[in-house]
Amino acid sequence: MKGYLILLLAFVALAAADYEPFEDEDLSDVMEAEVEDDHIWRVPQFDGSFKMMTEQEAKDLTIVSEIIERIKNDPHFQNKRRKVRFFLHTQKNVMKWQEIDMDRPETLHRSNFNSSHPTRFFAHGWLSGMHQVQSYEIIDSHLMNGRKEDYNIFIVDWSCMSMTWNYYLARLRTRKAGLRTAEFIDWLHTEGGLKFDTTHVFGHSLGAHVAGFTGKQVTKGKLKTIVGLDPAMPFFRTKNPQNRLADTDAEYVETIQTNGRELGFYHPIGQAAFYPNGGLRQPGCGSDILGGCAHSRAPTFLAEAVARGTYNSFNTVKCKDWTEMRNKQCSGDSEGVRMGDPENYKKAKGVYYLVTEASVPFGVGEFYKK
Ligand SMILES: *[C@@H]1O[C@H](CO)[C@@H](O)[C@H](O)[C@H]1NC(C)=O
Repeated sequence: MKGYLILLLAFVALAAADYEPFEDEDLSDVMEAEVEDDHIWRVPQFDGSFKMMTEQEAKDLTIVSEIIERIKNDPHFQNKRRKVRFFLHTQKNVMKWQEIDMDRPETLHRSNFNSSHPTRFFAHGWLSGMHQVQSYEIIDSHLMNGRKEDYNIFIVDWSCMSMTWNYYLARLRTRKAGLRTAEFIDWLHTEGGLKFDTTHVFGHSLGAHVAGFTGKQVTKGKLKTIVGLDPAMPFFRTKNPQNRLADTDAEYVETIQTNGRELGFYHPIGQAAFYPNGGLRQPGCGSDILGGCAHSRAPTFLAEAVARGTYNSFNTVKCKDWTEMRNKQCSGDSEGVRMGDPENYKKAKGVYYLVTEASVPFGVGEFYKK
């Protein structure tokens, strides 16, 4: 009831401001967003705390605040560059990115993109952008690990959609960020000869769902692998795979779940789901009351796995199912399956448990020396 009252007030305010809401793509996305049920979520706030609210409450609050922003004519909304951007790193330009822009094909043709090399995409999470430790973990672990392998590493910068104080709004935009990424991948295939067969997409938190929506929306092939790094949980539902990262979004979908029930999913949502240290809390994170440390361990684990390569020590134990994992009773033979191994598409399936030491952001660890 309260929700309707707020909405009514918002529309009155809109009429007074002579504003046409449905010309605004962003606002119509929120207006038309489907509210699935009245589950109460633990919703992260921009200051690191949480608020408990239903999806309807989040939607109402968002509509009101978005309308207020527009009535205030906030310049932030007038010249917002609403474009998902793609930054390429290769062995030839480890430190300095090259931006590849679909609207300017010469940016591809003049770049170091090489379709003979495997391609990796990385999509960041909420309130993030290109310049953050997780991007560099992915770049460094692939290109600076001493093995001299070459890759096309694309950082997906969807900060134009993720940089909002409102988690719900960023969550809503993951589908569109995925669409833009899918269009880019299709274009890279046509224009640059990208091979789907060697293309893996990684995403952290909300970015894991961006990766999923990318896989759902590519039209020229099927992604080989998606790795969901602690896929965000608030406002995503296990029972609705069309609306989140799902196990069919690529030929092989793996998840590394490190902060279940809080910021991340606890339920296994990949063809193979890895639960370092049980998937709720992580060593080295202290009390980690808000879960942010454990949540950001997932990309670090992937980077470590890639950097270690054949020295990868992330041995796992196979669980019969999720229940056995939760009861810490797994004892199955994992048959050589290792968390984060790029060859996992050949063999990994089901739920895996592993015990690890405290993992540290890439570059600080000891594994270079091995
Ligand atoms: C692309 O990579 C292949 C294999 O590493 C190499 O032989 C070829 O010269 C590269 N092409 C360009 C244009 O650099």
